[in-house]
Amino acid sequence: MNINNLKLLEAARQYGTPSYLYDGEQIINNYRNLKNALPEFVDVFYALKVNPNVSLVSLLRSKGACTEVCSLTEMEIALKAGSTPEDIIFLGPCKKDYELKRALELNIFALVIESETELQRVSEFAKEMGVTANVAIRLNPDFSADGSPWKMGGRPTQFGIDEKHAVENFGKYLQVPNINIRGIHVYNGTSILDANSVYQNTKYILNLYDTITKRYKTKFTMVDVGGGMGIPYFTNQTPLDIKEFESLMKPLFEEFHAVYPDTRIIMESGRFILGTAGYLAVEVNNIKVNHNKTFVITDGGTNCHSAAAGSGRVVKRNFPMENISATDNAEEFEYQVSGPLCSPDDILGRNIKLKEVNVSDILVVKSSGAYGPTSSPGLFHSHGFPAEILVYNEEMHLIRKKDLPKDMIDRQVLVDFKIQAPILNK
Ligand SMILES: Cc1ncc(COP(=O)(O)O)c(C=O)c1O
Repeated sequence: MNINNLKLLEAARQYGTPSYLYDGEQIINNYRNLKNALPEFVDVFYALKVNPNVSLVSLLRSKGACTEVCSLTEMEIALKAGSTPEDIIFLGPCKKDYELKRALELNIFALVIESETELQRVSEFAKEMGVTANVAIRLNPDFSADGSPWKMGGRPTQFGIDEKHAVENFGKYLQVPNINIRGIHVYNGTSILDANSVYQNTKYILNLYDTITKRYKTKFTMVDVGGGMGIPYFTNQTPLDIKEFESLMKPLFEEFHAVYPDTRIIMESGRFILGTAGYLAVEVNNIKVNHNKTFVITDGGTNCHSAAAGSGRVVKRNFPMENISATDNAEEFEYQVSGPLCSPDDILGRNIKLKEVNVSDILVVKSSGAYGPTSSPGLFHSHGFPAEILVYNEEMHLIRKKDLPKDMIDRQVLVDFKIQAPILNK
């Protein structure tokens, strides 16, 4: 059974607002839907950038998910959540020396190399440490996933090595000392709702793997085809057709696996797994009419959930939202739902229809499990980050404490410029 409004309301009242509420059953369902649409030999790596909460990672890990991390902290969270180094990959365009060294010390499954200079650095560290570094070379292909609104490849980006250049130079990479190249990595785009687009993208990457393997007569052991499976946020979007996805992806991977049975196939996913399972709960603090529009002022906005407020988007559309305090038969009205910031852009719902809203009601922004706190300006107005609560097996677990004023102030260092009386205003 999935979470219902009563449970959401109970959690929001018990732990206060603003807060993120996660539906554990939904997280598992989403993960299983993806896993079941793939052959059993394909490993799904959960991308912590989407939501690095250690309990959510632990829940996914308990169901078999592996982890993709982009910083030392994410790597330590993955370990704390029960991931083994064998099931961790580490990528990102700016890895610090201490991060690379920690990854080598742990002997994670693959350090994903984003440039030739990074390959050299890793080689030197591995030599110093007397180890062999397991790596994958990230390629920026000459092909972009056409169903993705955010393209990471197929155009100039800070990610990976250009496909043509890498294919030409792979022989040299294979000679670099203290390096074991497991294979290749491509992550081309995110928020893809078209199964065929993921399929075309994956097919391209598997072909690339085949080309490099044959050209250099080498035996790789891994291919990471990325992912980018999205969820719908707006009324004009339809969910990824998981049946179509399955019917395209299973035969593709099976065919590849028949030729390369020893190659670990990796798909990365975050948004698809967490997105629909998270809710931002906010409380209505005030209602006012301004220039003929009714504003519902809530205690959490852009500072908690910049994506829902449409930050960075030219066309702002509303995330799905509901007044969970309203009775079933309440009448609907049109509102502007704002957050607490002194910014006219701090709007969670524009001209949005909600069941009649009253002060102290709890509103939830749905589809908020991915890129919520992680991509929001939590320091704005010094509000800090909200609490996070996992509802699972009918139980509520506080999985992140809300930042309190003390937590925020303690991070700052006072240089106490003593007031010298009398102050002269010159
Ligand atoms: C390399 C990489 N892996 C995984 C992800 C997670 O993507 P998604 O949230 O679309 O699943 C991203 C997102 O940008 C990414 O860049």
